[in-house]
Amino acid sequence: MIKALIIGSGGREHALAWKLSSSPLLEQLYCAPGNPGTAKMAINLDINIKDFAQIKNAVLDNSIGMVVVGPEDPLVNGLRDFFEDDSQLKDIVFVGPGREGAKLEGSKDFAKSFMHRWNIPTAAYRSFDSDKPEDAIDFLKTLKPPFVIKADGLAAGKGVIIADNLQLAKDELRAMMGGKFGEAGKKVVIEEFLNGIELSVFVLTDGDNYLILPEAKDYKRIGEGDTGLNTGGMGAVSPVPFAGSEFMKKVEDRVIKPTISGLKADGIKYQGFIFIGLMNCGGDPYVIEYNVRMGDPETEAVVPRIKSDLLSHFAALGRGELCSEKMVHSSGTSLTIVAVSGGYPEEYKKGYKITGTEELKDSLLFHSGTAQLSGDIVTNGGRVLALTVNAKDIASAREIAYSQIEKLNFNGIYFRRDLGLDLINFSK
Ligand code: AMP
Ligand code: GLY
Repeated sequence: MIKALIIGSGGREHALAWKLSSSPLLEQLYCAPGNPGTAKMAINLDINIKDFAQIKNAVLDNSIGMVVVGPEDPLVNGLRDFFEDDSQLKDIVFVGPGREGAKLEGSKDFAKSFMHRWNIPTAAYRSFDSDKPEDAIDFLKTLKPPFVIKADGLAAGKGVIIADNLQLAKDELRAMMGGKFGEAGKKVVIEEFLNGIELSVFVLTDGDNYLILPEAKDYKRIGEGDTGLNTGGMGAVSPVPFAGSEFMKKVEDRVIKPTISGLKADGIKYQGFIFIGLMNCGGDPYVIEYNVRMGDPETEAVVPRIKSDLLSHFAALGRGELCSEKMVHSSGTSLTIVAVSGGYPEEYKKGYKITGTEELKDSLLFHSGTAQLSGDIVTNGGRVLALTVNAKDIASAREIAYSQIEKLNFNGIYFRRDLGLDLINFSK
């Protein structure tokens, strides 16, 4: 029996907690810090997850045997390395890569040179140090618009600029190199624009073997019809109709296998999730980015489609025996709608009372940014709630999900009403 700890506090972590809590192998689940949603199935530990010593104490005090990390920050900052280097923690099953593997997300330059080295299809690119703006501008002049400019480091999902003309590209480049994204812009990657449709593929690996999770499409823009500002994600659909078995075979052969063998050959022990952001360009996959964790809100759509025991998969990962596990996907369609605070992704207020959660039917409700305030659940973030419906196809999932989300209310609630519509006419 396993005592497991999930690190994080959003909808992704609530969805993982929901799934792990159904496992017959689970003795007790903990979340740090968790949220009012995870409190229903786990013991929330009120600790600062940036303070690794506090995590250590919580793990030892509660005899926790497995740690699953939701967000990228603790991974990029070396939480796995901290566990491996500590004699009391080193045998704990840890789902998430170490600092070196986390560079796949933490440095775009690292990820691009990794792909280049292992012949993994991606947009052509060049990297420039921030003290060489003139070289970068000379390179921009050799490209055709639109121009894709990326800050090398973590920039809270905002470090990618797509500029339609050279002047804008130069201005953005100078701003980035001048410190718009702080340290993240010390190096800048300029790359070829890929024309296609995006999707996300998720893999769980023990470093040798891997399981492929259900794929998903997320909706990043705030406005309907994919307009307006970028957000953390306004919703997700799984499966993705334009990712048929022929395309997914190409993804496995051209991207997943060389990624895992490349990490191993580079001497990087990678145990955890790899989230591959892909562009489907005329039926061929190109990698846009790697993340070293699951996506949010993709997890809220993907995890409910996993029929097999995720906790058992994690335990096998710890033993290096993922080859003995099979991940079973359900055939239905999941649609996740994210309800956000008015004003998000710009300024918004917190602390509004949430109502209607008890009236939901035929759906799962994951808490993303909520807090408990005496007897009430109140808004506590930009993305507040994620509602998932699993049904036979996108049209039926939409019908149920939109009828249910109407029951939820808080001051300024907003959600997109067009999720999945763009996918209804695709056939696999
Ligand atoms: P990233 O943070 O690398 O995922 O980039 C953010 C978004 O920018 C992606 O989800 C894509 O929509 C877009 N993007 C990034 N790189 C490219 C590219 N080379 N060509 C076209 N779009 C891109
Ligand atoms: N939904 C995109 C992400 O989690 O990065």
